Amino acid sequence: MSQPASLPTHAASAENEQRERIKTVVHANADAAAAQLAAEIAALIRSNDAAGKPTVLGLATGSTPVRLYRQLIRLHREQQLSFKNVITFNLDEYYGLSRTHPESYWRFMHEQLFNHIDIPAGNVNVPDGMVPRDGVFASCRAYEDKIRQAGGLQLQILGIGRTGHIGFNEPGSGRDSRTRLVTLDALTRRDAARDFLGEANVPRHAITMGVGTILEARRIVLLAWGEAKARVIAEAVEKAPTESLPASFLQGHPAVSFHIDTAAASELTRIRHPWLVGTVDWTPALARRSVVWLSQQVKKPVLKLLDENYSEHGMADLLTEQGPSYGLNIRIFNEIQHTITGWPGGKPNADDTHRPERAVPHSKRVLIFSPEPADDVLGMGGTLRRLIDQGHDVTVVYQTSGNLGVPDEEATMAAELVLELDRVSGSAANPGAAFARDVRQQLAAKAAFDGDTPEIRKLKGILRRGEARAALQACSVAVSRARFLDLPFYEKGRYRQFQIGDADVAAVTALLREIKPHQIFATGQSSDPSSVPAVCFEILRRALVATKGESWLNDCRVWLYRNPEQAWEPAEIEMAVPLSPRELSWKIQAIYHHKSQRSQIPSVTEGRHESWQQAEHHNQTIARHYDALGLAEYEAIEAFQRWHLS
Ligand code: GLP
Repeated sequence: MSQPASLPTHAASAENEQRERIKTVVHANADAAAAQLAAEIAALIRSNDAAGKPTVLGLATGSTPVRLYRQLIRLHREQQLSFKNVITFNLDEYYGLSRTHPESYWRFMHEQLFNHIDIPAGNVNVPDGMVPRDGVFASCRAYEDKIRQAGGLQLQILGIGRTGHIGFNEPGSGRDSRTRLVTLDALTRRDAARDFLGEANVPRHAITMGVGTILEARRIVLLAWGEAKARVIAEAVEKAPTESLPASFLQGHPAVSFHIDTAAASELTRIRHPWLVGTVDWTPALARRSVVWLSQQVKKPVLKLLDENYSEHGMADLLTEQGPSYGLNIRIFNEIQHTITGWPGGKPNADDTHRPERAVPHSKRVLIFSPEPADDVLGMGGTLRRLIDQGHDVTVVYQTSGNLGVPDEEATMAAELVLELDRVSGSAANPGAAFARDVRQQLAAKAAFDGDTPEIRKLKGILRRGEARAALQACSVAVSRARFLDLPFYEKGRYRQFQIGDADVAAVTALLREIKPHQIFATGQSSDPSSVPAVCFEILRRALVATKGESWLNDCRVWLYRNPEQAWEPAEIEMAVPLSPRELSWKIQAIYHHKSQRSQIPSVTEGRHESWQQAEHHNQTIARHYDALGLAEYEAIEAFQRWHLS
């Protein structure tokens, strides 16, 4: 493979980082990264304070920097870090949102940071989203002037959007762009839809510092967590700078670094294809990954790979160590072949030497964890049905109620339905009707982006339970197999602001002890740590730690499934469950029952992003990959990976 045209911009990179044009530090987890950056900021503030100078920081919004802000608040409280001489400039603001709007970045910054530290109100700067259209240009220029008057940004914190945007500099933003009004990309608006309770409510425009403004900061640190950011991080770090990925313009800045977690780093060449950038220890997993990659590169099934294919693609040493290709191909082919099973709970009375799951005990107690209703069927609806058909004792655990994802109109309709029933039945003093009447009133009184009252959340949760039950029935699962935990972290929180409590872990621990599962299916392990799936996975992990040493746990395997937006590469899959066309269509029907999760205004949405479409595409893509490797051609495949409690 050819090397990048220009040398990496950061000095002294290790051999395996040679493709990286931005210094990228991979941390064990987001908290470790946030703690390190918070310490750097504290040191900067203290040294400026000692020199009698202010500290000028550029700040970002989004879920990503929240952990950093928590650390800064901690340093303020525990180590008396003062922000009295700190001046901040935020990157951006939605255009048309007032400061009081729950989704305004002004409000976000106050709730997440400013209200908890001693920064003077006059030192806080966020672009004004309410400036009239004809005053935007002047207001943006004044913002830039103010940064300059403060002495320029000493440190700029950035997150990154899935389009590769920094601030709101969407693809197409030039390297020299300045603070201005921009139009938001469709993907960005879709990513913000959950916060705004529907894509239609997401503003179309924003005011953002320009790429040029950002590049003038003396130091820049970009943070990213979770697998959803992995592709865009790899592109920004390794590809040539381009307007279609504004974060790539950070290359060339003299003091920029990316601090990311392992999930966000997973697409970097040094991690995904390490044999391309240095000598590697050819573990079985790496050998498999490289052979699958080679097969995809040369577009040949595994069994047809030749020695020269290996040597022409930088894999000669694998051949020397484990070749020739004939035997290596067969070995890897067999390994992948053995991931395929129609028996996700193990095949009774079969030799299971090469099967992903053990045969005994035959009827297994299976716990399927679904962070929100719908995650179960989206990730593993076909496998769920198979487990039931094959006689396993399956319990589906909905960890959260999912009520935050229900639009008001759905709740109003449900309340009306109860009231109508009450009228039809003529029953006096029906408490259900009284509740529905209250909820209807509360919904009517609610302003557009107000949070929901506990009663509204209750009703929305009930709605999602109904959908989950209908979906289970579509998978031929008895509704009695569903357990709804309504974990408190979710009931007390809102998106981006969840905090795990002891009660969450206790609820899952109790359930594990009650069921004593032989198999657990779960998701969220490498998601953005602030997301519901990641929080739910962390709760499960802590519950498993709490039960360590209990005998059932020695005989329990944990399988990970993934949401349809995050594909596993074939070489990473450890259990592949094929679905027939019929099974796929049952799965889609099950997903379809999650009515409140469908796009509210299908006519204004484009492309394949209804969840059942994504699931169908995802499962068919995996099947196509297996086919291209020379394995059997299935309609669709659901994929799993084993997870071990360390
Ligand atoms: C928004 C913000 C960006 C932020 C991005 C990613 O678009 N304008 O500054 O980096 O979201 O958000 P998150 O951190 O929630 O993934």
